[in-house]
Amino acid sequence: MTAITTDQATALRRMMEQHEAVEPAAVAPHPPTGPFVIAVASGKGGVGKSNVAVNLSWTLAAAGHRVLLLDADLGTANADVLLGVRPRHHLGDVLGGRCALDDAAQLVAPHLRLIPGASGIGDVANLGDAQRERLLHGMARLEQSCDTLIIDCGAGISQNVLAFAQAADQLLLVTTPEPTALADAYSLVKVASRMQHTPDLALVVNAVLDRQEGREATQRFTAAAARFLQIAVDDFGQIPRDPRVPLAVRERRPVVHVYPRSPAARAISALAQRILSRTAGPSVRRGFFQQIFGLFY
Ligand SMILES: Nc1ncnc2c1ncn2[C@@H]1O[C@H](COP(=O)(O)OP(=O)(O)OP(=O)(O)O)[C@@H](O)[C@H]1O
Ligand SMILES: [Mg+2]
Repeated sequence: MTAITTDQATALRRMMEQHEAVEPAAVAPHPPTGPFVIAVASGKGGVGKSNVAVNLSWTLAAAGHRVLLLDADLGTANADVLLGVRPRHHLGDVLGGRCALDDAAQLVAPHLRLIPGASGIGDVANLGDAQRERLLHGMARLEQSCDTLIIDCGAGISQNVLAFAQAADQLLLVTTPEPTALADAYSLVKVASRMQHTPDLALVVNAVLDRQEGREATQRFTAAAARFLQIAVDDFGQIPRDPRVPLAVRERRPVVHVYPRSPAARAISALAQRILSRTAGPSVRRGFFQQIFGLFY
């Protein structure tokens, strides 16, 4: 990965300014600041990121927010499966120039669009200038037409995850109460705390056996981050271990949709409320994709 040069950055900025100048109709009601960007990440894999990202997206969209869900888990992308959609195209096709971005962004419910994931974001380095510009324009236009951009990141501390985290407003860390998952989440916070731009950090403890277990895990985690890393991690609540979640996964439907009264669905709705209170104002950062591309090449 090569760092973006000043020339490239200036050219991109100019390109974006021109783009915005000629296409004012594409600008959403939130301009000029762009969507609120939430990166959903975890240290350890399999802790429930995708379920959180999908159900959160569904809940916000059901509340009338225009949500774009980007499945950026390049190893095990599966948001499409959780939503029960068969992707026509995926992110890899877009990056490889095999389809336009608009074709990949699939409407899966009112107000909710998904860009299905795939391996191959590294392909961006191999795109020609014209392709890259087209892609950047497309993504910038897409992000201008949503209120919230939710990114399902892969597990762990890869370059990709760090790039997405740095360009986000909110890094939503998902963990379970297990010590291994907490330790891995802590490592991610440690790295995030040293990034050039650290987004707001928040912790969600998923699959808790009871409230007490979740609260204790959160308290220990946030206290350690404050004491040893001098960084604030907000408590965004807990989601109970709930058999309805795997049941909904088997049905390929978000649990908030098929079992809205289940304990997990209620907890996710509460999480969405918490996030909505954060997104009441537009993002202070703009040009998410512009930043991402700056970080990728
Ligand atoms: N609150 C919950 N209660 C019960 N089971 C859950 C809960 N949350 C997630 N699961 C189950 O845990 C498994 C992993 O969930 P999910 O795929 O969302 O994790 P992930 O963090 O995205 O995994 P990966 O790191 O592989 O991307 C799924 O089988 C799901 O059904
Ligand atoms: Mg996942």
